[in-house]
Amino acid sequence: MWNWLLRKKRWEENRKRVALITGASTGLGLALVKELARSGDFHVIATARHSSLHRFKKAGIVENERLWIRPLNVLLKAERDAVIEEANQKLGGIDVLINNAGYCLRGVVEQVNETERLKQIDTNFRAPMALIRGVLPNMRKRRSGHIINISSVGGMMAMPTMAIYSASKFALEGATEALWYEVRPWNIKVCLIQPGFINSESFRNVELTRESRKSLQDKNNPYYYHYNSMAPFIAKMMRLSPSTPEKIARKIHRVIDSKNPPLRVPVTIDATFFGLIRKLLPRRLYHAIMYYSLPRVFRWGEDDHYHMDAEYERQESARKVSSPKIDEAQAPQPPDRSVAVLDDRRPVQTGKGA
Ligand SMILES: NC(=O)c1ccc[n+]([C@@H]2O[C@H](COP(=O)([O-])OP(=O)(O)OC[C@H]3O[C@@H](n4cnc5c(N)ncnc54)[C@H](OP(=O)(O)O)[C@@H]3O)[C@@H](O)[C@H]2O)c1
Repeated sequence: MWNWLLRKKRWEENRKRVALITGASTGLGLALVKELARSGDFHVIATARHSSLHRFKKAGIVENERLWIRPLNVLLKAERDAVIEEANQKLGGIDVLINNAGYCLRGVVEQVNETERLKQIDTNFRAPMALIRGVLPNMRKRRSGHIINISSVGGMMAMPTMAIYSASKFALEGATEALWYEVRPWNIKVCLIQPGFINSESFRNVELTRESRKSLQDKNNPYYYHYNSMAPFIAKMMRLSPSTPEKIARKIHRVIDSKNPPLRVPVTIDATFFGLIRKLLPRRLYHAIMYYSLPRVFRWGEDDHYHMDAEYERQESARKVSSPKIDEAQAPQPPDRSVAVLDDRRPVQTGKGA
């Protein structure tokens, strides 16, 4: 009996903290796997969807007794339950849950359908909630644990064309804040990590809605300039950002090791900046500044202009096909605006504010 107790005590002393990371085959998740595994202080459970598991090998991540690789599509209950159950049975539970899996749906409110909206909310909000519900009973029993939800600047401020992404991260922020109070009595720490622009390839993983994909190509679409100015702007900001996934992973590691981490941790310069101006500026002024700082916003909503551009281009390409030689008489004429109709919902206006 004494022997058994002694062995149990020694096992507990030698036990590494178990960290489960979702969406770990790319970007920030992968950087976190490398960071925590390298430190030697953790038993890392790196998870990814079945279809993405092959990426671990490419990134030089191979399984060993302190690093497990497990399939986990966060939307699937069976996979969530399996990974939590295995960690509870074989490792004594999960100490650090990092809800990192997520994606950004690009589409203005008018162009997101119900299926697209639900999948975004399910992935970025409901799945992290389900994982938290799965790990909490064991954390409460042991009276310790750390839940880390990867939020976003999009969870403190909303940007046009990313409405539902912001909605999902706002929801995550709200629920996580409530959780912070709820589990404090059991000494369970709760953090929201707020990255802004990360210098990585993840802007390529943005998912366009069915309608936004069409609008991006169609100058007749009322939202054409919304997409065509926001997308390159965001890609550029990400390329220029000094914050790499590796730097952010190091910051998160410090947060995990911290005895008393704050609830919200901005981890990029722009996140700190936006957090500050949102706190300091009166809301009306803040929204006005943000609006006029949007890229090429002076062109947004100029329905007449879209139509003119498209009409000129249509005439130009028709002219090129019929006659390769250009002469003055064939130059494209302005469209007849009196009969122009942009789409089946609204007639084209003949001038802004007309
Ligand atoms: N990149 C940024 O600038 C930025 C800014 C603010 C916040 N964030 C947040 O940071 C987190 C990490 O993003 P990242 O920048 O590292 O982007 P990323 O490289 O696109 O990584 C996102 C990961 O989530 C995974 N994922 C998506 N849906 C999943 C599902 N249903 N089940 C399991 N995994 C799923 C993806 O896996 P697959 O490869 O299988 O699709 C991918 O590995 C996200 O929560 C994101 O919202 C990113």
